[in-house]
Amino acid sequence: MPLLETHLLRTHRELRLAHLALSMMTVGYVWQEGERETIKVLPRSLSVPFCEVSQRLGLPPILIYADAVLANWKKRDPNGPFSMENLELLLTFPGGESVRGFFLVTLLVELAAVPGLKSILDVINGVNHNDVAMVTKALDVVSQAIVSMKQAFKLMHEYVDPSIFYGIMRIYLSGWKDNPLMPEGLVYEGVQEKPMEFSGSSAAQSSILHCFDELLGVQHGGSSGAFLRRMRDYMLPSHKQFIENISSRLSLHSFVLQKADERLTNTFEQCVACLVDFRNYHINAVTRYIIIPAFHAKQLRANKEGLAEELDAIRRAPTALEERGTGGSGIMTFLKTVRDETKQTSISQCTTENQVLPEPSMTEIQKPASELTIE
Ligand code: HEM
Repeated sequence: MPLLETHLLRTHRELRLAHLALSMMTVGYVWQEGERETIKVLPRSLSVPFCEVSQRLGLPPILIYADAVLANWKKRDPNGPFSMENLELLLTFPGGESVRGFFLVTLLVELAAVPGLKSILDVINGVNHNDVAMVTKALDVVSQAIVSMKQAFKLMHEYVDPSIFYGIMRIYLSGWKDNPLMPEGLVYEGVQEKPMEFSGSSAAQSSILHCFDELLGVQHGGSSGAFLRRMRDYMLPSHKQFIENISSRLSLHSFVLQKADERLTNTFEQCVACLVDFRNYHINAVTRYIIIPAFHAKQLRANKEGLAEELDAIRRAPTALEERGTGGSGIMTFLKTVRDETKQTSISQCTTENQVLPEPSMTEIQKPASELTIE
């Protein structure tokens, strides 16, 4: 590949497209042999333009959520709706229709959050103007947005096959930080001799839940808090700034306590309950897409005979990623801690038990996905 010139890229959209293309080529190059022969050096034809483009965008030189999900779609019919039928990916990696499903369903989850994001500004204005009715109304929109996010998430089960996700796709989302497959990181040839370490792509890099957490005053401490804060370095700088602006301008939790208004308190509690419910749903999805296939993979390696063909992808999945998320977290402890910290934001936690919605059972994720299109 020739050394590409990046100085002709002018607009934000051009740079984002270049980041997406170079990141897809990079993960394709790094993981081309699976976990068998991991790459130590990224050739200069990829590393130099990738680092230049990344620096101009203020992003790390690796595939991030803002590439794979936020910048990776187009409408088949430009005047048609934002629906699975009318959307397609710009770039993809091995895993066929499941890759399309994974990125586009996640995009629909983002889209469902938009009214809630917009309402954050109304909450801030309402608090600043001491307007209880305005804050209550805006928080109601946030709750509804989180409910719609869960509805959109349900489509994952229709479009993404767990064995393809676990056995084929996951490695391409992995990074070279906290990854036993690449303990030293990756040398970006022609940029720096010392290897660099970057986390893989994860929806923990989506700004949505970070925004809702800041809005409601959810506190993430310890190693999970540190992981989530680090994920903000994998977001567009404007998104990271937006999240930080929310917390610096607002103390909604104290406003709700101080006003002691019944409707406001109930609406706030509803928001927290919806967020806990979303995180529970997410934990169930992670069980279906990672924990159960990882269990099967271990069983298959221990018991080699009678290998069904459809399980072959799972058997070949990288063993090093069994216990870890693509962002590098120790999955279940992390996700449950984050969920429990959300519960603790509830105002009635100390007085009334069980205000939050109960954890959904495994049967819930096995129900047929709803037929949802988001206009
Ligand atoms: C099959 C689908 C999914 C799987 C298997 C999955 C897996 C994971 C894993 C393993 C983590 C731990 C962090 C890491 O190391 O990467 C994580 C975190 C996270 N994921 Fe997902 N994820 C899925 C879909 C989604 C979707 C659609 C969203 C919504 C935008 C989402 C939002 C998050 C968030 C916000 C976190 C950070 C933890 C939190 O704030 O609760 N995930 N995910």
